Amino acid sequence: MRCTPRVPHDLTYNPRVLKLADRASLLGFSDIVRIRNRVLDLRAQGRKVLQLEGGEPFMPTADVVKDAMRDALAANQTRYAPSSGIPQLLEALRAKLAAKNHIELATGDLIVTSGGAHGLFCAFQASVDPGDEVMFFSPYWTPIRDQVRFAGGVAVRVPWDDVRGRDDIRDVLESHRTDRLRVIYVNSPANPTGDLLTRTQLESIAAFAKAHDLTVIADEAYEDLVYDGEHVSMASLPGMFERTLTVFTFSKSFSMTGWRIGYVAAPPLFMEFLRKLVLNSVNGVSTPTQFAALAAVTDDPHAFDGLREEYRRRRDLLVGGFRNAGFDCLTPPGAFYTFPDVRACLGNDSWRAMETLLERTSIASVPGVVFGPEGEGHLRMSFSTSMEVLEEAVDALRAL
Ligand SMILES: Cc1ncc(COP(=O)(O)O)c(C=O)c1O
Repeated sequence: MRCTPRVPHDLTYNPRVLKLADRASLLGFSDIVRIRNRVLDLRAQGRKVLQLEGGEPFMPTADVVKDAMRDALAANQTRYAPSSGIPQLLEALRAKLAAKNHIELATGDLIVTSGGAHGLFCAFQASVDPGDEVMFFSPYWTPIRDQVRFAGGVAVRVPWDDVRGRDDIRDVLESHRTDRLRVIYVNSPANPTGDLLTRTQLESIAAFAKAHDLTVIADEAYEDLVYDGEHVSMASLPGMFERTLTVFTFSKSFSMTGWRIGYVAAPPLFMEFLRKLVLNSVNGVSTPTQFAALAAVTDDPHAFDGLREEYRRRRDLLVGGFRNAGFDCLTPPGAFYTFPDVRACLGNDSWRAMETLLERTSIASVPGVVFGPEGEGHLRMSFSTSMEVLEEAVDALRAL
């Protein structure tokens, strides 16, 4: 029998009978996708674009990781694995967390997820009830707002500017607290500012969380990308593991953004539900990918040291370029983003500033307002690209 090709968008149903779930309105589509499409359009027109709008490591995945994937395939490691993760990987992650993050836990306190985004999704679903307030610093990584909302939570933004550079930040947190506050999300090093929470600031947050029985979601996606200061894991502070869900990813540390693998460390209270969430959403991360991740995490622990210096060189070049061009640009201690204040040079409206910069310099960036109202007047640019592209960007800024 021959099938008649269907006309795309030929609606045969009655939209009054079939209906999209109400919860669909709770999730947005990242504005960053809008910018990516704009860049693709320009490139399709033959225009040169200096792409600083992204958020990926600049170097490819290491050969040792790619080889491990090939070996896993050759050994037919292609079947269902335990949905929480293969035992070898869980054990390697346990050892890594003990040695590097100073978090002592059992392999049963760990679950492998399909990247950090999936880990965060599960963490919010496991800890937030409808009507619960979730506190986080703003500007913030955009999907967080949607994930809070999708879990039924209410976002409580604390302006990062109110705590930046201060040791004791407890009074600021207290001033934003109501009795409905249930969770605090912390992301250090942070996207989009590249800022780092110091040990003292984390201790303030920990004391605040303990005093008000809060759960903490610690997003440590950029744990290895620290140039000044130290990365401290929230769950390593005394008494904090029992109330903290820590979300990690292989994406940034191991240049594995496309592999989609991460993990969550959480106390037993949350673990069983996290397992059910992973089972019912993805039923485990692809088995060969887990073997590749095992090779990444058991590889030379100093493998990142050289790369950190490469990032530092790039950071210093781009920050210097902005300052020379008259922008107010702090030096980010971590991650791979600069977040200059562009108000004096390009005006207050960051969408318009993004367009102006693109027109005049070919530099693609992300408007700061995408990361919350507290990001308005800023642009986010990544220095995770080649030195050549950054040098071109700095030249273009000089001529702005
Ligand atoms: C702050 C932050 N957390 C988590 C993630 C999740 O990364 P992935 O889903 O690639 O693991 C990202 C990615 O950009 C991020 O910036």
